[in-house]
Amino acid sequence: MNSEDMIQKLLDMDVIRTPIMKQIINSLNLPFLSHGLDVGCGLGLQCRMLAEKVGLGGKITGLDLDSNILETAASLATKANLSSQIDFRQGSFANLPFEDQQFDWIWSTDCVGYPTGDMEAVLPELLRVVKFGGSVFISAWSSQQILPGYPLLENRLNADYSAYNPYLQGKLPENHFLNMQYWFEKFGLEQVSVNTFSMDLQAPLTPLEQKALASLFEMLWVRPVPSTSSQVWKDFDRLCKLESAEFLPARQDYYGFFTYTLFQAVKP
Ligand SMILES: C[S@@+](CC[C@H](N)C(=O)[O-])C[C@H]1O[C@@H](n2cnc3c(N)ncnc32)[C@H](O)[C@@H]1O
Repeated sequence: MNSEDMIQKLLDMDVIRTPIMKQIINSLNLPFLSHGLDVGCGLGLQCRMLAEKVGLGGKITGLDLDSNILETAASLATKANLSSQIDFRQGSFANLPFEDQQFDWIWSTDCVGYPTGDMEAVLPELLRVVKFGGSVFISAWSSQQILPGYPLLENRLNADYSAYNPYLQGKLPENHFLNMQYWFEKFGLEQVSVNTFSMDLQAPLTPLEQKALASLFEMLWVRPVPSTSSQVWKDFDRLCKLESAEFLPARQDYYGFFTYTLFQAVKP
């Protein structure tokens, strides 16, 4: 996905991701006045929530590989009057542009280790920049049921057309995101815990929530090129396209949910 697509999808989906992100971030008990790093911060949407939790004297640094995304992130932070509390740096989690033990804690969502990752190389680099006694919080999207009444269609889309398939094929089981505990323990982290949070999507959904779901459907499932007219994609066009008269999220009885899973631990 190019920068423009990523920016648009993150903005579209913000309305359904914000409540679950708030729920997760509220559970972290971040130290007041601390300085945290958001790895793969994207538009900095969670940087803002994290900044609120550390208070006015606290700081958040957002790191991302993509300079276009960071430009938009910086202008959103300025508009929200948060530029004195949040700064952005361009760089990769493979080689962080920071000093050893610079941060009180590290947060990452839908980036590090997701849907698979080379944690053998990445985790030591993250741990290098966290203070002793600091926490590591790594979360990611972990499941969804969003086509109510059409479980077989949803199963087929997931099995055959998931956008994640290229990142999953041929990977070792321990490289899958849900095996993060393995890496935390391997690198000596303590107080390892894992929690899954859910977000209910219950009708009536607002037009913005419906648009978010249309973007989500497009992001999760990739139509083969050249486009096919198989029954799966006919059903997709009928049920998952915002402009279709049968668009599922527009129904007065729509219900779906998705989950995020959070791994956390402490660097001893
Ligand atoms: C799905 S987006 C998530 C953004 C943000 N965390 C959120 O949840 O709204 C993934 C982000 O990770 C960034 N990213 C990918 N590889 C990276 C790397 N090696 N180092 C830093 N950021 C990276 C991408 O540029 C993108 O902005």
